Amino acid sequence: MSSHVLRPLWVVIIIVILILVARFVIVPPDFGIQERGFMYGYHRKSNEDDWKAFKVKYKTRKYCKDCHPDKYEPIMSSKHRIIQCENCHGPAVDHPEDPPKLVVDKSRSLCIRCHARLLYPRTERAKIKGIDPEEHNAGMECSMCHNPHKPDMEGW
Ligand code: HEC
Ligand code: HEC
Ligand code: HEC
Ligand code: HEC
Repeated sequence: MSSHVLRPLWVVIIIVILILVARFVIVPPDFGIQERGFMYGYHRKSNEDDWKAFKVKYKTRKYCKDCHPDKYEPIMSSKHRIIQCENCHGPAVDHPEDPPKLVVDKSRSLCIRCHARLLYPRTERAKIKGIDPEEHNAGMECSMCHNPHKPDMEGW
């Protein structure tokens, strides 16, 4: 092989070797897929306890059920049953100890996020009924007319 091919080839080979050496030195020996295979992907075994101690912020609505049945029950028989409470009220963390109250966001943007009419006819998003935020009762809070915990339009 002529030297104008060989020289760059050597450079590439040396770079690859340097990367392999660096990987050997830097990556901790307990980094890998561990005994459960790819279920949890690559991770460091000695780091598992850190993640076990990690505070879960979102509790799902089962957690709200007993203290807020007046919200839980209507929403479960409405079209909003597929939305978690914390999607609108933020993470519960240790509520009601900390924080004692969750956010009550009455802004139009809370709802427009999902209900602004978008023209993507073949997507799942298009199945959510949409309004034109500029036209649909502009300036008024959505919850003046729609109950967020029972939004179904039957009977209008
Ligand atoms: C152990 C009982 C308990 C649980 C569990 C609980 N809450 Fe509460 N929540 C309370 C109490 C008590 C208050 C304060 C009530 C007050 O001051 O009017 C409150 C207040 C709130 C408020 C503010 C109400 C307001 O008028 O400002 C929201 C929103 C709320 N909770 C949502 C939730 C959601 C969502 C969940 C589930 C993720 C949840 N809560 C779980 C007891 C609970
Ligand atoms: C689609 C968004 C959305 C979802 C989902 C939702 N909420 Fe609300 N929630 C609101 C809005 C908006 C208000 C304020 C309504 C108003 O008074 O104008 C509110 C008010 C509240 C309040 C306090 C005010 C009141 O009326 O007593 C509580 C407590 C509450 N929600 C709990 C819950 C719980 C528990 C769930 C789940 C079972 C839930 N919410 C699901 C949007 C939502
Ligand atoms: C995370 C997305 C999401 C948010 C946020 C949200 N919605 Fe919905 N909403 C839905 C889905 C999904 C449905 C059920 C599909 C449908 O029929 O449109 C629905 C249904 C509705 C319906 C019933 C339409 C019908 O067919 O009867 C109304 C009205 C409504 N939402 C109003 C609101 C209001 C008001 C807010 C704000 C307080 C809000 N939504 C926030 C996703 C959302
Ligand atoms: C002044 C009362 C009022 C306010 C405020 C209001 N709406 Fe409505 N909304 C209605 C009425 C009445 C209907 C049913 C008739 C219609 O389709 O216009 C409706 C219909 C809807 C529908 C169903 C549309 C369909 O195709 O069936 C959605 C979704 C909706 N509103 C979301 C919202 C959102 C999101 C907001 C806030 C950004 C909001 N509304 C503010 C009164 C209101």
